[in-house]
Amino acid sequence: MSKTVYVTRRERFNAAHKLWNPAWEDEKNLKTFGKCANPNWHGHNYELFVTVKGQPIEDTGYCVDLKDLSDVIEDLVISKLDHRNLNLDVDFLKDKMTSCEVVAIGIWDELESKVNAMGCKLHSVRLHETENNMVEYFGGE
Ligand code: NI
Repeated sequence: MSKTVYVTRRERFNAAHKLWNPAWEDEKNLKTFGKCANPNWHGHNYELFVTVKGQPIEDTGYCVDLKDLSDVIEDLVISKLDHRNLNLDVDFLKDKMTSCEVVAIGIWDELESKVNAMGCKLHSVRLHETENNMVEYFGGE
């Protein structure tokens, strides 16, 4: 009988961003986003945890080869975000707020079809913006 296992790969990237709603007055932006609204940007050392769900196959005992998963995350996400400005440089975040929530959803959307073609299923994307602040997205509504 096959058993379902959740497998996680961690990746890291550094990026700059700013939280700023262009539809609002400056004062409201500064009040709402505080230091994150700094006009000259600020940066984070992000940690990304991508979890897939699958059943170990007989020949390898793997649900997914973590090297392959890492390569996919590198190609579709890390290479686009690392040492970039999330507000200005990233195609899949264009015209979006670059909150941790929105970035995590963007990463999910980048990964979903390719990961699901690897014989496992994307389960969650967890993004740590700081040591204490993190978000997790499981797809869907
Ligand atoms: Ni920030």
